[in-house]
Amino acid sequence: MKNEQVAEITQDFDSAGFQADLIDWFYQEQRQLPWREDKDPYKVWVSEIMLQQTKVDTVIPYFQRFMEKFPTLNHLAEADEQEVLKTWEGLGYYSRARNLQNAVREVASSYASKVPEDPKQLGALKGVGPYTKGAILSIAYDQPEPAVDGNVMRVLSRILLIDEDIAKPKTRKIFESAVKAIISHQDPSAFNQGLMELGALVCTPTTPSCMLCPVQEHCRAFTEGIQQDLPVKTKAKKQKRVSYFAFLLKDEQGNYLIEQRPETGLLANLWQFPMAPLAETDEEHAAQWFRQVYGIEISIESQLDQIKHVFSHLIWNVLVMEATVIGGSLTNGSGRFVKPAELEQYPFPVSHQKMLKHLG
Ligand code: ADE
Repeated sequence: MKNEQVAEITQDFDSAGFQADLIDWFYQEQRQLPWREDKDPYKVWVSEIMLQQTKVDTVIPYFQRFMEKFPTLNHLAEADEQEVLKTWEGLGYYSRARNLQNAVREVASSYASKVPEDPKQLGALKGVGPYTKGAILSIAYDQPEPAVDGNVMRVLSRILLIDEDIAKPKTRKIFESAVKAIISHQDPSAFNQGLMELGALVCTPTTPSCMLCPVQEHCRAFTEGIQQDLPVKTKAKKQKRVSYFAFLLKDEQGNYLIEQRPETGLLANLWQFPMAPLAETDEEHAAQWFRQVYGIEISIESQLDQIKHVFSHLIWNVLVMEATVIGGSLTNGSGRFVKPAELEQYPFPVSHQKMLKHLG
């Protein structure tokens, strides 16, 4: 779909009427959410990063704790990365936290700690993609910029009857053009948040509540009776499955071996109990693998648990093994033995947090 076609779609659309109905409804019905208490661009930024791939109900307590720990941009800029990751623990997609802190440090050093209002400067920051940029500019700075995520695409695919595949990366640009054409210039903040709120409360994925919809009379899909057929979204690839042993390995002092993951890739810089790829080894070879990687002789006692963890592109199947040190000494720099009581200071992925209950 080209820009001219988007122009055609929005041409005979009653933008003014739609804006008025959407914005009135938003002011009446919006949820009281902690990031809506003021328009501090830093808070808007943090909330929008947390809300990517994560539900509002999950985000609320994380957002509140985050703001207690890092109440201003400078607090976050000056914080220790491990502490930031610890506060993010359980939210997933940890690169969001690392990128956010990188970007905040850049704002502190290059822009005197003021979140840029300039779209180019803002969009050049780590982790600030078109969605986050548009959300900050519209919500905090009242600029008529599109903030298009999956929810907004779903809503607008129905309102404007756009049947482009929203699973394709380039489709977002089509919706951004559409938003530019219909957004309120008087109140871009309420307009964009109204679209998000409508997607969350009314125009839901499987059974939209069209009878309660404040913009029903503007909705082309409803007029045609095809709201359930939109948006068009092709299925994502099935996740790859990988299996591991994870070792709750105790030494004579009752300390457990943990290690820090590499600084790039999945769960970067988080801590975990050591994991051996199960494909290459079975329980007998695991001990041998352990000696090679860590320099430690272990005895595997028993299987304690089996944990499945689903990532966006990957499924982990982890056999949790109880083991004890019987010889050797730690040769691997990423690992360390720590007291059980100290484990809580380290940021762990959820799958490894679940193993903590097995520690004796
Ligand atoms: N989803 C994404 N951004 C949001 C916001 N600001 N409020 C509620 N839900 C959202």
